[in-house]
Amino acid sequence: MNNLVICIDGTAASGKSTISAKLAQKLGWQWVSTGAFYRAIGYLVLNHHSPEYLDDEAFLVNLVQEKNWDIQLGEIYTTIFVQGQDVSQAAYGEEYGSAASRLSRHPVVRKLIVEEQRKMNRGQGLVAEGRDCGDVIFPKSALKFFVTASPEVRAQRRAQQLGVDPKLISEEQKIRDYQDTHRKTAPLKTSEESILIETDQFSIDEMISMMFGYAQNRFDLSGE
Ligand code: DC
Repeated sequence: MNNLVICIDGTAASGKSTISAKLAQKLGWQWVSTGAFYRAIGYLVLNHHSPEYLDDEAFLVNLVQEKNWDIQLGEIYTTIFVQGQDVSQAAYGEEYGSAASRLSRHPVVRKLIVEEQRKMNRGQGLVAEGRDCGDVIFPKSALKFFVTASPEVRAQRRAQQLGVDPKLISEEQKIRDYQDTHRKTAPLKTSEESILIETDQFSIDEMISMMFGYAQNRFDLSGE
């Protein structure tokens, strides 16, 4: 399989979803938000079972394998289906982000999810966004970015998206950052190969042109 994959990793609410989706559009490539897979399972647990199962690896493995969930690629967001219903709108809320973070600590769950995430690379160009994209899901990807922003800017952005108080978000974010950076399997971290981008001082358009520039250097985009 050819290796037209760009990975964009980064902290929660760093803007990585928006940026990666727009970069994919500019390149004419497909885009996937890899967190959607964990959110689908989080949604299943919270709505069809009960929260304590977020800590039960055997139960979660079963849920992942039962495949009562599905992920479809899109340009604006990665669609999350649970039991045949599009639940994306709810599943991108903070509650499911926290559930996803909690259940994503289990190594066997991650192993199975990674297998599903890799299927999204259909060889036609893919921008993949999420925690362990560059290290684990697509380690051979030729271009990797790590996107971050100050905690204040991140809390403000997420609060604006959800229409809630930034203080509330800031606490949840701290917990999520801690969980994501301290878990034993595939913790959130910058890799040496990643280009670090701090988004506070750039507009989205500025970032897209910068990243597009890197892509032009790294890939032969002329024949696409
Ligand atoms: O990017 P997101 O907010 O949709 O991700 C939700 C959670 O899923 C995140 O807190 C940790 C987990 N996740 C992960 O472990 N690995 C990924 N590649 C993507 C997300």
